[in-house]
Amino acid sequence: MLSSPELQAIRSRFPLLRNKIYLNSCSQGALSDAVENGLREYVASWHEHGSPWDIWVERYEAARSQFAGFIGATADEVAIVPCASAGMNSIASALTFDRRRKVVMGEFEFPTMGHVWLAQQKRGAQVEFVSAVGNSIPTENYERAIDRQTLIVPLTGVCFMNGFRSAVREVVPLAHANGALVMLDDYQDCGTRPVNVRTADVDFYVTGTLKYLLGPPGLAFLYVRKELIASLQPTITGWFAQRNPFAFDVKCFDPAPSARRFEEGSPAVPNIYAAMRGIELLQEIGLDNVSWQIHELTSALLKGAQKLGLIAKTPTTSVGPLVVFQCKDAARLVEKLAANGIVCSSRHDGLRLSFHVYNTLEDVRAVLQVLEQNLDLLVTGTAAVSGD
Ligand SMILES: Cc1ncc(COP(=O)(O)O)c(C=O)c1O
Repeated sequence: MLSSPELQAIRSRFPLLRNKIYLNSCSQGALSDAVENGLREYVASWHEHGSPWDIWVERYEAARSQFAGFIGATADEVAIVPCASAGMNSIASALTFDRRRKVVMGEFEFPTMGHVWLAQQKRGAQVEFVSAVGNSIPTENYERAIDRQTLIVPLTGVCFMNGFRSAVREVVPLAHANGALVMLDDYQDCGTRPVNVRTADVDFYVTGTLKYLLGPPGLAFLYVRKELIASLQPTITGWFAQRNPFAFDVKCFDPAPSARRFEEGSPAVPNIYAAMRGIELLQEIGLDNVSWQIHELTSALLKGAQKLGLIAKTPTTSVGPLVVFQCKDAARLVEKLAANGIVCSSRHDGLRLSFHVYNTLEDVRAVLQVLEQNLDLLVTGTAAVSGD
């Protein structure tokens, strides 16, 4: 648990928080002085040396090791990719759909997950969506869909549009018992609590740096369980995926023995400089402190909202980071909140409010006040909160 001075010290690292209540980390994390300095450092290296590729490649490898440590993996299990979609596509391109054809995913996946695997229909994939019941997807629905024909189960950690947290601990063993692989998309949660891919027992893990990892867009990571790497050869590839990218041999295709084989071309060096500082900052604060703070704020908001009679799409037991309320006009409500200095977002009929370690109970009170003033834009009632 962070003390009040510690929390204030963290907040002082994010200049945006002097003027705004920032509840949109589900879209983009706030910019810290640390991340800004990372970008400056990149610019300085460019100014000073012109083309210091040796330094930049070193930094790119350091980012790989740093992220591997962050998720409990080893550096050779991590690919650095420009976006989460690129990581998903690389794996999809490496799989074949002859013996097993089924891709089983919940309907709460981020759309890109659907698009990536639906595009594989051309290569024989058969995509089956697991239906939700209200705002949750019961594990039994996965149980019914996953069978011996299932090749892979893509699984979102937290749903971007209602804050539903997938039952990773239940779905992973179900998939594995049927011989299927699991790809965890943790973009809506990575950076809010400690992660360990080994404990989670997933085969693939994707996330990017721009949300709760507090970094910029244009950088993402793909973890591939070591035992699988050699058996997967993506057809989306490039020179940075080769065993020796600097062999410069156009006639030789020799994929790296490590997860680097899931990469393509030149890495996003400025983003690497910046993103590393974001991850470092989270590690300094401590991921247990981050998750504690987020849980506190999430509970406080859900409790306050219940008193107002708001209908949450997110379960009342949620540990965060995303809380979503059902609205009559979510876009208009986002505008109203913006007029009060509160930054958040909407998806369909849901108002999305997301917490990070830099948020406070003061933020919760402020947002509840504006919600109370705008009850006409929200759905209210005594309906049971779905997904509880
Ligand atoms: C859960 C989730 N997965 C994937 C993405 C998209 O990732 P990218 O744009 O890096 O491909 C997002 C973006 O919001 C997301 O929330």
